[in-house]
Amino acid sequence: MLSPIVLVVLVLVTFVAAADLYKILDVHKSASEKDIRAAYKRLSKKYHPDKNKDPDAEDKFVDIARAYEVLSDPTKRQIYDRHGEEGLKAHEGGQHQPNPFDVFSSFFGGHHQQQTRRGPSSLTEFEVSLADIYQGANIDFMIKKRILCDHCRGSGAASDGDIHTCTGCNGAGVKLVKQQIFPGMFAQSQVTCNECNGRGKVIKKTCPHCQGHKVVDHTAHYTLDVTPGMPEGHEVVFEGEADESPDWEAGDVVLRVRSKKVKGSWRRKETSLYWKQTIGIDEALLGFEKNITHLDGHNVEIVRKGVTQPGFVQVVKGEGMPVFGNRDVKGDLFIEYSVILPVEVTPEMRRKLTEAFHSPSSTHDEL
Ligand SMILES: *[C@@H]1O[C@H](CO)[C@@H](O)[C@H](O)[C@H]1NC(C)=O
Ligand SMILES: [Zn+2]
Ligand SMILES: [Zn+2]
Repeated sequence: MLSPIVLVVLVLVTFVAAADLYKILDVHKSASEKDIRAAYKRLSKKYHPDKNKDPDAEDKFVDIARAYEVLSDPTKRQIYDRHGEEGLKAHEGGQHQPNPFDVFSSFFGGHHQQQTRRGPSSLTEFEVSLADIYQGANIDFMIKKRILCDHCRGSGAASDGDIHTCTGCNGAGVKLVKQQIFPGMFAQSQVTCNECNGRGKVIKKTCPHCQGHKVVDHTAHYTLDVTPGMPEGHEVVFEGEADESPDWEAGDVVLRVRSKKVKGSWRRKETSLYWKQTIGIDEALLGFEKNITHLDGHNVEIVRKGVTQPGFVQVVKGEGMPVFGNRDVKGDLFIEYSVILPVEVTPEMRRKLTEAFHSPSSTHDEL
């Protein structure tokens, strides 16, 4: 709650400020939203009573907040331009004006982005090979996007002199139209200016480079830095690299990194790696020594002595994925075996196998 004394001060200030809100912010009447933000940023810091001990600083600070509050709001700005402080008061209908210190803290309190409109961000699923996630990699890619025309810097006009205030609405972007609702009875309503489509400005000669579109197509090149062990679905943000427009601050390009699934190859779950290995029946029964070529080409030597059951999973410690952010530490490798039987048994082999399995010393299970 504001104390009555402060209220009186505010009201007085309002009358004083009625002189010119533009002068208070030290900006031209045609100042852009950006100019107004910049002016507020500069002046509000300069006159903040915490820093400026001049006795007039606080009054000045209050004026600046009020001017910014009105001129940064397109509706209020239009009303002020056309009907002055009186019109504004009618519009606000005796509502409390925001506390100048709240205006200040919401401006500087990290809410920067909310003040300027943010353009759309893009999210792209980006598949990389498991080998790249294992070893780390730099992957070049391209994005087709729109950038501000560098000839007109996003104005759409051939030159600054080709931008004129709309004569249809005097730059307000709206027109008042009188409509007869009953014979002799008129209502006034506000419509978007048809000459400038509400922009308040018209361009006499369009920019030859972008044909007045303000933006041009562009192919931009980037490099994605895949760090070893990057988690599935990890998002890499390229800040402010989405489509540009004079109407917004460009959004982000976000890449969601995933590993390519290759059938019959390596699988990954967090820091664990999975590999399916087929072995022959001789290897399953008698044991074997083998090398598995890892994702980066190094050999993992496996030695099995004795019987390996189909579906058996062998764990090899430290041969899994690197831990994200600590590549020297690795998870485990899980090798799952399947056993391939021969398609045919030759009579010779059959005789030998029968002998081996059916000899009195064999340990054959009757299932
Ligand atoms: C496996 O690879 C190592 C070298 O990395 C080699 O010394 C060894 O003989 C290989 N073993 C097999 C069974 O191929
Ligand atoms: Zn107009
Ligand atoms: Zn242009």
